[in-house]
Amino acid sequence: MSKRILSGMQPTAQLHLGNYLGALKNWIGLQDEPGAENFYMVADLHAITVPQEPAHLRQATREIAAAYIAAGIDPHKSTLFVQSAVPAHAEGMWLLSTMAQMGKLERMTQFKDKAGKNAERVGLGLFAYPVLMAADILLYKATHVPVGEDQKQHLELTREIASTFNTRYEGEYLIQPEPMIIGDATRVMSLQDGSKKMSKSDPSEKSRINLVDDTDTIVKKIKKAKTDTEPMGDSLKSIEGRAEVKNLVTIYASLAGISQEEVVQRHAGTQWGPFKDALAEVVVEHLAPITKKMRDLLNEPEEIDRILETGNQRACEVTESTLSEMQDIMGFWRV
Ligand code: AMP
Ligand code: TRP
Repeated sequence: MSKRILSGMQPTAQLHLGNYLGALKNWIGLQDEPGAENFYMVADLHAITVPQEPAHLRQATREIAAAYIAAGIDPHKSTLFVQSAVPAHAEGMWLLSTMAQMGKLERMTQFKDKAGKNAERVGLGLFAYPVLMAADILLYKATHVPVGEDQKQHLELTREIASTFNTRYEGEYLIQPEPMIIGDATRVMSLQDGSKKMSKSDPSEKSRINLVDDTDTIVKKIKKAKTDTEPMGDSLKSIEGRAEVKNLVTIYASLAGISQEEVVQRHAGTQWGPFKDALAEVVVEHLAPITKKMRDLLNEPEEIDRILETGNQRACEVTESTLSEMQDIMGFWRV
């Protein structure tokens, strides 16, 4: 069976270096796998699980699409689409929701985190979020889903929902996708606190590098990044337990395309000032072309919309076929 790869991100904020290294960058290489068909989505239906300002949501959707293209998702190789433009996602979700157990949804860590102490007041959508994600994946009969560690639990649930469907209707209809978990090596931490993930919800701008930050801003943020009082060690082992230092090394290695060990050895014994200068250079060198392409694309929104329109059509074709198969199997009236 041929490989179908699908992934997506929510248009809830500007993408940061964590999103880039932990997700987006990994998608780029997958486009060249022989025989694989790739789908990358802007998950705007997921975004409204928390309130969104409509004009902002529309713009953020374009920005994420621009970031995908600028980072190297090639519309000739991959289908790039917007979730809300493909009606089967919401329809499929209803069908699958009858096969998702409340108890399991309640145990989702992301739901517990986002609902906090206010679980009684959160919307049904936040609770049902993983079922929509299951529909996103199962409607494409995706075989592989590259995501960060934090989405692993949602993928497990997707597999269970597919299995319940297949058991209930006695056939191998829906495909249980393989998670492709992008591991800890690319987990990017806050520049201000090595124990916290770099995150769009961190109130401190200094904690993250956004994909749209200009050179000056990047250099400033890296200069202000937290380190410790010892200089760089001489092996990866020697920086164990130094979370902030390890994070800067991770960022350097992932962007420069060399091993973490090599980064440490090249800079063995270096003080933080010169190391940060070198790191800033690597970050700027890698991000500047992406940022420029993103800006250029955003100046030509019709071009982005045209690419999305083509992708949306392809996504509709694929999903309508699976949806009507599901409707048929489930006994819905079709003329
Ligand atoms: P989010 O911004 O939380 O919606 O995440 C979008 C994608 O980026 C997911 O696949 C996450 O796993 C990934 N991601 C988010 N933050 C980080 C981070 N600090 N390090 C690595 N990956 C991340
Ligand atoms: N929930 C994912 C996130 O927050 C985004 C997402 C939505 C997704 N649907 C998906 C990822 C389907 C992979 C496959 O990052």
